[in-house]
Amino acid sequence: MFLAGGQRVTVVAVPLASVREAWEASPRGTISEVLTQAEVAVSGMHHIFERRVSHLAGRIAAKFALVHALRARGYPLEARNIGITQRMAGPEEGRPVVQLPAGVPACDLSITHSHALAVAIVAERGRVGADLERVSPRSAALLDEAFTEAEQDWLSRCELLQGRTPDERWNLGWCIKEALVKCTGHGLRASLQQVTFSGWTEQGPIAAPLPWLTDAPGALARRITLHSDGAGSGAVTGLLALGRGYAFAALHHLDEGRAPEFVT
Ligand SMILES: CC(C)(COP(=O)(O)OP(=O)(O)OC[C@H]1O[C@@H](n2cnc3c(N)ncnc32)[C@H](O)[C@@H]1OP(=O)(O)O)[C@@H](O)C(=O)NCCC(=O)NCCS
Repeated sequence: MFLAGGQRVTVVAVPLASVREAWEASPRGTISEVLTQAEVAVSGMHHIFERRVSHLAGRIAAKFALVHALRARGYPLEARNIGITQRMAGPEEGRPVVQLPAGVPACDLSITHSHALAVAIVAERGRVGADLERVSPRSAALLDEAFTEAEQDWLSRCELLQGRTPDERWNLGWCIKEALVKCTGHGLRASLQQVTFSGWTEQGPIAAPLPWLTDAPGALARRITLHSDGAGSGAVTGLLALGRGYAFAALHHLDEGRAPEFVT
């Protein structure tokens, strides 16, 4: 799909149930056709089985998104020829890194999982950050910790969210903030109050529903340009979605290879 400004991104969702089933059938079966031995081994760092399934589902969603995105650019790679690791140290520790064969152009990737679903987004240029949340109540204290007054005001009155429940509003707002800190790579090491936005401009609906997410009655999916302080010279564009009890935000920073710099 294309974001405002023409940036192509690929979004893939994978239900955890399918991965759990495949793993229980045989870890050496379908999963090993998509993930490398090293990737399957790394997932073993999660000792809680469900956490491991989430991690595997995120990596599988990422592989599908990368294969699709690269094929569209004329690079028909197999999933196992693509590597996914993560930054092991430094301010972006944990941020996923894509390893591609020589001569294949770089891609940026973000992964998120919540409840029964994992979602990955891949962009050809710039940087991406995505967050998926199960819509659930958030305490007033948590909202004050995460959102500035201006953000709370915007989320309460913006037209797009009229008719939506308060839980949908706050969870979508939360997704935007987490997507921002994933785009920078700082994660929650940075206070969510340090990455701020003052609103967004709607850029039209997403043409096709996102499978497992917005393919249900009452779902919402919009392309946006985010009005984000400190995003430097490039625009922050993205998509916002509500559906099947989830909130989802994916943001893309156009500035070539440079993360948006926010107040620290
Ligand atoms: C990144 C972070 C915001 C994700 O939080 P979350 O909502 O619980 O989890 P999500 O499912 O949405 O995202 C998890 C994915 O984010 C990605 N991620 C992890 N660190 C990241 C970073 N610094 N930047 C971008 N993406 C990151 C990973 O792909 C991870 O999936 P994996 O663990 O299966 O590899 C959070 O884990 C974080 O801030 N981590 C870095 C700092 C840290 O470890 N702090 C201790 C906990 S507060």
